[in-house]
Amino acid sequence: MNPLIQQRVASFCQRFGVELPILLSPMAGACPVPLSAAVANAGGMGAMGAVLSAPEQIGQWMDAFRVQSPGPAQVNVWIPDPAPLREPVAEAATRQFLAQWGPDVPASAGDAGPADFDAQFDALIQARPAVASTIMGVFSSAQVQRLKDAGIAWFACATTLAEALQAQAAGADAVIAQGMEAGGHRGAFDAAQAERQMVGLFALLPRLVDNLDVPVIAAGGIADGRGVAAALLLGASAVQVGTAFLAAEESDIPSAWRDALAAAEPETTCATRAFSGRLGRALATDYVRAAAAAEAPSPQPYPVQRGLTAGMRRQASADNRLAAMQAWAGQSAWLARRAPAAEIQRAIWAQAQELL
Ligand SMILES: Cc1cc2nc3c(=O)[nH]c(=O)nc-3n(C[C@H](O)[C@H](O)[C@H](O)COP(=O)(O)O)c2cc1C
Repeated sequence: MNPLIQQRVASFCQRFGVELPILLSPMAGACPVPLSAAVANAGGMGAMGAVLSAPEQIGQWMDAFRVQSPGPAQVNVWIPDPAPLREPVAEAATRQFLAQWGPDVPASAGDAGPADFDAQFDALIQARPAVASTIMGVFSSAQVQRLKDAGIAWFACATTLAEALQAQAAGADAVIAQGMEAGGHRGAFDAAQAERQMVGLFALLPRLVDNLDVPVIAAGGIADGRGVAAALLLGASAVQVGTAFLAAEESDIPSAWRDALAAAEPETTCATRAFSGRLGRALATDYVRAAAAAEAPSPQPYPVQRGLTAGMRRQASADNRLAAMQAWAGQSAWLARRAPAAEIQRAIWAQAQELL
């Protein structure tokens, strides 16, 4: 391996307690403890996507993780958006539209607010994961101080250089460069700018690497050793892999979603606000396509749309019905294969090392 890359990777691994530079992406609702433990036990880092978790669930998740792995894990939280503007007439049109795809939607469904962020943060400090990670914004200086006092590192997700510089100035220990290929929500700090800031990882990564002092972790569309090798060549110190681990044996997503990953083309995933009101990349299912049609009502802002779609999403998952399921997927979903997570991770790293 090129000594510069080797040195960069070794320094990251040593600093953050991993043996190899492949980390599990935080994925809310799709990071069961056994998947995280398998990735950490194979030399990487586990992850919990805590956006929807009650504070006590954060501690419970870390306790369960520690039983299964002595390795490191990151707990990921979402920096809250400003309160949404509510439009009752538009919400009624959305509710009517959604009733074609799932159960009737009561008007109160739109009131479902975000979790209590301060309480989540307190729980995170108490749970003491190796890493706290953020998306959609940055921690306050008081929160950064509490992380430092607790010995918890901070990884901040960024989708542009401006966001990355903001994260570095706020005290992030590493920045995650999230390319627009990534599955799941897009981390644009300003929700309204998400579509206009769709930068691919090949363009974003060198831009961040050349302008930051902190290490950069690449995420988005990395699903085999070629992707890892390319990211490390472009200056990344490590990578985060999400979609490729959704197919792992330890993943617990509905089988219709899991099976559809390998059949997806890059262009049959699409960025949509139809599930939560925040832009995210999902399989272009029947519902996603219908919601994108000219005559469909515009999605409500986050988190109103998430509240309105909750019944449909829950029902579709319970019925294993892909058409209305929230089936997040990155553009390299076709590379996802069913195998134990440790095997997937080792194969990716072996191929990357060979190429490098
Ligand atoms: C099912 C799913 C859920 C996700 N949830 C979160 C989340 O809660 N917080 C976050 O920072 N990123 C989330 N992401 C984005 C990932 O952290 C990461 O950026 C992405 O998986 C990388 O791209 P890839 O899926 O192509 O590997 C999610 C991604 C997926 C696929």
